[in-house]
Amino acid sequence: MIDLRSDTLTRPTPAMREAMARAEVGDDVYGEDPTVRALEERVAALFGHEAALFTPTGSMANVLAVRTIVGPGQEVLCESSAHIARAELGAHGAYTGLTMRTWTGERGAIDLPAIQAMFAPDMGPFFVPTKAISVENTHNFGGGAIQPLATLRAVREYADQQGVAIHLDGARIWNAHVATGVALADYGAIADVMAVCLSKGLGAPVGSLVVGSQAAIDESRIWRKRMGGGMRQIGILAAAGLHALDHHIDRLAEDHTHARLIAEACGVDLATVDTNIVVVQRGDAAEFVAKAKADGVLVAPVGPTAVRLVTHLDITRADAERAAEVLGALSA
Ligand SMILES: Cc1ncc(COP(=O)(O)O)c(C=O)c1O
Repeated sequence: MIDLRSDTLTRPTPAMREAMARAEVGDDVYGEDPTVRALEERVAALFGHEAALFTPTGSMANVLAVRTIVGPGQEVLCESSAHIARAELGAHGAYTGLTMRTWTGERGAIDLPAIQAMFAPDMGPFFVPTKAISVENTHNFGGGAIQPLATLRAVREYADQQGVAIHLDGARIWNAHVATGVALADYGAIADVMAVCLSKGLGAPVGSLVVGSQAAIDESRIWRKRMGGGMRQIGILAAAGLHALDHHIDRLAEDHTHARLIAEACGVDLATVDTNIVVVQRGDAAEFVAKAKADGVLVAPVGPTAVRLVTHLDITRADAERAAEVLGALSA
């Protein structure tokens, strides 16, 4: 089976497993795991922030990150198909007590005029005040769409004018970086706090990080423990992350090439393929998925009229060519 359902399906490579086996470890709740410390320091530096915190999932990293800038009874503005709004099962409301209002952008795009129109200043007991704007780059349900740096900077400028913070969901920020050549630190500079994942295209079996100021990370460390996420000898997991940073960032370009190859075969407009995710619009999504499976290619339906394909570390050039052949024939 050629599995294009998600880039979370990657399995650790033999070299990654070796790095994990060799990792020096300690009790991370005591702050004594040197490999975790090394990963946190490295990721913070990559994005030009003071500190970072390892978390088991991107969802937890997002909850911890957003709660450093938005409190109970306050709101964050985000796109309507943002992962924090659609796919974290209400965690931000349940744990933080915040509310969300959303704009809807083409392929998850940021819409600054819509944000400006929604913005609610603090008016005491009358309205929920806007405390933060959340942006997602690349945008998962937007089909791996990249947010242009100029737009991100314009949102930063607006947030500064209004005195509110920015959260960046950078689960796939690495893909945006490789596709555009924009430095990770330039993406980091537009955010007060961010979440990044090692377990998507980078191929680690687990792991994400909150990235931000020392104060935000100190607070997140307490909340991670409170939520049951204080972990012990997790240097073996951090080692997978460090290995991924060393070996799996630049190669994301291959995933992007494979995505375009498959998209072209399926007759998808290449202007909608920025990175490693392809969305095929099909009236018969369920049937397409079933036929593809029968021909050895796993793809995922996203609603009744769209199918999502994601390229990743475990998809070779030969796999991509075979998938293009199978899916192209189904698209003809
Ligand atoms: C954009 C985005 N943010 C956050 C997450 C959450 O990551 P996790 O599945 O590790 O909780 C995902 C997962 O796919 C994602 O696509």
